[in-house]
Amino acid sequence: MGLYSLVRPAVFTLDGERAHRLTIAGLKAMPRRAPHSAPTAMQVELAGLRFPNPVGLAPGFDKDAEVFDRMFGFGFGHVEIGTVTPLPQPGNPKPRLFRLTEDRGVINRMGFNNAGQQAALVRLSRRDRTKGIVGVNIGANKDSDDRIGDYARGAAAMAKVADYLTVNVSSPNTPGLRALQDEGALAALLEGVMDAKREPGGERGPPVFLKLAPDLEPADIDAVVRVAIMHGVAALIIGNTTISRPDLRSKHAGEAGGL
Ligand SMILES: Cc1cc2nc3c(=O)[nH]c(=O)nc-3n(C[C@H](O)[C@H](O)[C@H](O)COP(=O)(O)O)c2cc1C
Repeated sequence: MGLYSLVRPAVFTLDGERAHRLTIAGLKAMPRRAPHSAPTAMQVELAGLRFPNPVGLAPGFDKDAEVFDRMFGFGFGHVEIGTVTPLPQPGNPKPRLFRLTEDRGVINRMGFNNAGQQAALVRLSRRDRTKGIVGVNIGANKDSDDRIGDYARGAAAMAKVADYLTVNVSSPNTPGLRALQDEGALAALLEGVMDAKREPGGERGPPVFLKLAPDLEPADIDAVVRVAIMHGVAALIIGNTTISRPDLRSKHAGEAGGL
């Protein structure tokens, strides 16, 4: 029996969000281990970055950049922190994270709960950049009256501490956010981000990845890819959680959010 099957029943007695919070607290209390070393055959080169292996930790786990350096010791080749928004925000009312145990899945509607980009910036600016690749996932505040501008603000603030930036227009949990995947809005957004990430001296800044929802229509995918290429997006991240629902058995199957 593996460690996971021993620990899982205990963790599952806790509400999912509490288990996550305790995990982060536990990780913060742990000494940092040296990054895991992978065989060179595992390396992946992308957008001028050399990823030591192809497995990274997706955003949503270390939203506030508290434990990314610990995660390298567990074998992750890169860690993406966030989503961070310009201003701190509490996210949606709880409960907002549901285990679908029988379906071996999760539904969440966290809603970009995060301590804001300044808090993450302070931690990231202290990091040892030789220890691993850190991507910064940026989003817009729910109450912002300039959501497109929020992405430029995020890019400007985080460019110097990020190995790559991810523009996240794919969360199903900020009403209206995914409309930023529409051609016109996306073009304006990416233009702002590409401008903002440049150093005043002319340095190009980190590569920009675009994270998409898996629920786009085929015709929309064409348009999004065209706009992404036109604006110099280095890679697409496919994809965020889905609002679609396959046949599910768990009692939480009807909860709103991303599966
Ligand atoms: C609880 C939870 C919180 C998440 N928060 C974020 C987030 O803040 N930003 C983001 O881009 N994706 C977020 N995600 C999506 C994940 O990064 C990932 O794209 C998604 O879970 C799909 O990958 P999977 O099929 O391996 O789960 C979150 C996912 C979960 C389950």
